[in-house]
Amino acid sequence: MFNIAIDGPAGAGKSSIARAAAANLGFIYVDTGALYRTVALAALKRGLKSEDKEEIIALLPAIEVSMGFVDGEQRVFLNGEDVSEDIRLPEVSAAASTVSAIPEVRQFLFDLQRDMAKTNDVLMDGRDIGTVVLPDAQLKIFLTATPEERARRRYEQIKDKSDVTYEEVLKDLNQRDYQDTHREIAPLKQADDAVLLDTTNMSFDEVVKAIEDLAKERQV
Ligand code: DC
Repeated sequence: MFNIAIDGPAGAGKSSIARAAAANLGFIYVDTGALYRTVALAALKRGLKSEDKEEIIALLPAIEVSMGFVDGEQRVFLNGEDVSEDIRLPEVSAAASTVSAIPEVRQFLFDLQRDMAKTNDVLMDGRDIGTVVLPDAQLKIFLTATPEERARRRYEQIKDKSDVTYEEVLKDLNQRDYQDTHREIAPLKQADDAVLLDTTNMSFDEVVKAIEDLAKERQV
């Protein structure tokens, strides 16, 4: 199997870029952030806060997270219920960053991610894919852009749907970056053998093409 790992901070455009590159290459796209978001949603639904570490660990045996693919689109299920839309709520984003720092939660989701990559050509994105989940991936990419540019892009996406200001988006993004890079377990960091793609001054199509070209080079 050919595995591509894409890691990088929040708002680097990973998921939209990864989805497009995977479709062009005929790979399955696996969004691992969706899995952490689903665990966070399960906790919130039980009335827990993302800081309730022991309670969240105790809840894990009662939750089943699974992935399905409908027309090549990943859907994520919590105990059989499709929660693909619910997990995008802002309160779930914040809670996902906190629950993802719990080692038991990472272990809980590890096998699911590994099994997908063992049996499929996957393009998987997240924070620790090249470093922990798929250390033997044939291609690793670290996708980033400046915090200001990432906040600007996110703000453009949501400004018509919410009253949030650019400054608030930037603050939220800096906070998530800090949490994701400073946690003890599997922190966000570039794998030694990853190719760095700084997309600050690149268009969407340029980034997708760069990933495809790298994949084609390595596949031969
Ligand atoms: O990519 P995202 O914003 O959907 O991810 C949600 C949170 O999950 C993010 O704050 C960090 C965490 N995450 C992680 O720790 N490891 C991954 N492989 C993917 C996401």
